[in-house]
Amino acid sequence: MAIRNIREYGDEVLTKKCKEVTEVTPRIRELVEDMLETMYEANGVGLAAPQVGILKRIVVIDTTGEDPYVLINPRIVESSGEQTGNEGCLSLPGKTGVVTRPNYVKAVALDINMKPIEIEGTELLARAICHELDHLDGHMYVEKVEGELKDAAYSEEGE
Ligand code: NI
Repeated sequence: MAIRNIREYGDEVLTKKCKEVTEVTPRIRELVEDMLETMYEANGVGLAAPQVGILKRIVVIDTTGEDPYVLINPRIVESSGEQTGNEGCLSLPGKTGVVTRPNYVKAVALDINMKPIEIEGTELLARAICHELDHLDGHMYVEKVEGELKDAAYSEEGE
């Protein structure tokens, strides 16, 4: 496993639409392991493949520090409610901004063995799912920020 370089806001790779994964090759397994290690090392709660320069529809999320989700070709199938709060991103270190997201989200995806899985969450997990899936279509939270981006006092919730 290895720590990968996290691409930062302004890098063109973060504006591209990612491709579906059709097969989990050894190279993809290595990518996923590296994404997990990179996310934990950066104290993030989520990371999307384009953030390490790979245009594939893969995200990792861990909002509890206990059990990471690996989501391949994820798709939101249900959402409801609303939450407004601070959001940050590992691709924009030291910054935070207020974003409104659904308070509940259900997504379907494939796991690392290409088996269909379902993930549902509220609050931070719902926010993280929305945030990471946006990355797969070349979008960043800054497009949705209400008001100004602020300097983060600390960056413990980077996505
Ligand atoms: Ni992000």
